[in-house]
Amino acid sequence: MAATPEQRREQLVDVFREARNCERCALSRSRTQVVFGAGNADADLMFVGEAPGAEEDRQGLPFVGRSGALLTAMLGDVGIARKDVFIANTLKCRPPANRDPAGSEIETCRPWLNEQIRLIEPRVVATLGNFATKLLTGDQTGITRVHGRPQVRELGGRRVFLLPLFHPAAALRASATADLLAADLATLPQLLQRPLPGAEA
Ligand code: URA
Repeated sequence: MAATPEQRREQLVDVFREARNCERCALSRSRTQVVFGAGNADADLMFVGEAPGAEEDRQGLPFVGRSGALLTAMLGDVGIARKDVFIANTLKCRPPANRDPAGSEIETCRPWLNEQIRLIEPRVVATLGNFATKLLTGDQTGITRVHGRPQVRELGGRRVFLLPLFHPAAALRASATADLLAADLATLPQLLQRPLPGAEA
């Protein structure tokens, strides 16, 4: 029998309890704490960013710095409240000095993300930036070429729409990128209503 949302939420808390002691890679020695992810454990919409920055490492929460403020504001502009979505990252621990995630770190950390997607059961997974997009599409095509076009993928054992988006940090650096991110985010309300090909409604 399928698990209820409450059972899935409890299982997600169990995964969090395990993840917060993770020592599978060397980032465990430089982090302040694990940034597991946060939000609605039964969300239809899940965001996957890159890795925690300094503020996230300090607070233990994803996207609580400047990028997060922009993402929250842009979501509000399209009628989506941050509390209704779940936000996670490809890496659960901050890379020192905010360097890029290493491929080996992303692979080592991936089972946590797989578990999150499996238990949350989102209909849409929006990937923020190149690292999350390349990881979850399994394709090396860069974000500039794939942003804004939903792809049907199997993630966490279920079919989802994967929507590649520019990372809000890139939008903070260039207003043209901010405009593209805003336009892509504006497609989310309709995408959330769209039936997944071959999946139960
Ligand atoms: N950038 C990310 O990719 N993730 C965060 O949690 C914060 C900034």
